[in-house]
Amino acid sequence: MDTDPGVDDAMAILFGLRSPEVQIEALTTVFGNGGVARTTENALKILEVGGRGDIPVVPGAAKPLLHAYHGKGSTVHGADGLGNTNLPAAKGQPLNARAAEYIVQQVMGAPGEITLLAVGPLTNLALAVSLEPAIAHNVKQVVIMGGAVDHRGNASPLAEANIHNDAAAAKIVFHAGWPLTMLGLNVTHQTVMTTAYVEQLKTADTPVTNFICAISQFYLNAYRTRDGIDGFFVHDSSAMAYVVDPTLFQSQKVYVDVQVGDARANGQTMADWRNQWGQPPNVNVCTKVDADRFLKLYQSRIM
Ligand code: RIB
Ligand code: CA
Repeated sequence: MDTDPGVDDAMAILFGLRSPEVQIEALTTVFGNGGVARTTENALKILEVGGRGDIPVVPGAAKPLLHAYHGKGSTVHGADGLGNTNLPAAKGQPLNARAAEYIVQQVMGAPGEITLLAVGPLTNLALAVSLEPAIAHNVKQVVIMGGAVDHRGNASPLAEANIHNDAAAAKIVFHAGWPLTMLGLNVTHQTVMTTAYVEQLKTADTPVTNFICAISQFYLNAYRTRDGIDGFFVHDSSAMAYVVDPTLFQSQKVYVDVQVGDARANGQTMADWRNQWGQPPNVNVCTKVDADRFLKLYQSRIM
């Protein structure tokens, strides 16, 4: 799982740890909701909260491919990337390796078995498939939280944050030829975890549910202030939910391209539903989710 924790990344990781359908082999980290040192430290903390400090954390890209890193995640995720809970330092250490090479080794070492679940900017996946293009044929599938098909953006009017943070990397990932499923804002906005839903999780009173409630307070306020909603859209856990139980979603294969560099449209994901550009489909775009069943599944696993 490639991640930039991040409050919703944390909720997705803990969901995966509690779901027997998936086995998280490693967390690879990337800049995004914070700098990569921050997201790496947070990945260690989250695994320790989940009782899985044994799972390796492998640091990845510190910056996008073509420009400098300019962190903006803190307005939504807090300066520490975990809702300003300022938890004590993690006990563990990251692996002395780098995400792109680690991804190549893991995928080539277990042909057809590894799912790459990416819920941050796609820099590590772009570097990995550039280092070893054969991973596109040896990976089981690639599932990303990113993009926005026929839907407004969030990082810009047209682009979603993970794609906007490294549009060039996203273009490489979208055209690498691997089985790619995309959960964009068009589907993640269909599920909202309300304040009451988070309070319900809290009644379990376990280290995991107490952690989730603590880190989501700042996040809830950020959504209330920015979007005027009670609750938050469920981004990264939607992508984890697809790996846990794909029957929660409807999807359609279509050609999707990524706008790179344009002043206003940088990071826009453009779907060609009527095949007017004459290109073969390259992405399985999730279009609908059974939000009630998803929220019930999340609650049952986490509590
Ligand atoms: O646009 C939402 C995405 O950006 C999520 O992955 C969130 O964690 C942030 O990285
Ligand atoms: Ca994320």
